[in-house]
Amino acid sequence: MMRSGSFAFAALLSFCGVSFARESGQSAKSTLVVYFSRTGNTRALAEQIHSLIGGDIFEITTVKKYPEAYRPTTEVARVELDNDERPELAAFVENMEQYDAIFIGYPNWWGTMPMAFFTFLEHYDLSGKTLIPFCTHGGGGLGGSEADIRRICPKSTVLGGLSIGGSRARNSQREVTAWLGQIGFNR
Ligand SMILES: Cc1cc2nc3c(=O)[nH]c(=O)nc-3n(C[C@H](O)[C@H](O)[C@H](O)COP(=O)(O)O)c2cc1C
Repeated sequence: MMRSGSFAFAALLSFCGVSFARESGQSAKSTLVVYFSRTGNTRALAEQIHSLIGGDIFEITTVKKYPEAYRPTTEVARVELDNDERPELAAFVENMEQYDAIFIGYPNWWGTMPMAFFTFLEHYDLSGKTLIPFCTHGGGGLGGSEADIRRICPKSTVLGGLSIGGSRARNSQREVTAWLGQIGFNR
């Protein structure tokens, strides 16, 4: 049994985002950063977050590649959104049960996440997990993405997300660090 003193300490560590091994012998749960990025802005943000909090990192990629050029990509993405498509993913995260906090990063596409992220989130039962959105964008912030995540994952806790303009993604260390502190993930 966990004594009250050690429980208080564990609770403090947990509040600070630090995983701890439970006395029952269960292994410590860990944090995952999962992201989708076409031109690298969101990847830069994901790598900053990962370097600050540790855990694992996973890039979502689709089987069918998007066009190289911006405008044709917007057209393909618009059709995917309008048709409520679920693009096929090249791979999924295995052993999702080992994570209790999942940072989910994506570019704002047409006011929400790319449809590939809908494929990803719907693939799992994320009940009881803490989901933390972050996005890069061209002026639209998180758009409706947080509401979409809450709708897809009604039994998860969704924390307030971070949005960073795409052109600033590679120089956003201060904002990222401050946000991680606000949501209890500073170490
Ligand atoms: C298909 C597509 C749709 C987009 N739609 C929006 C949008 O609705 N609002 C917005 O602010 N930015 C939009 N953008 C801009 C991207 O969110 C922005 O450039 C982002 O930083 C790209 O991230 P990445 O480099 O990780 O792919 C769109 C970009 C693409 C390619």
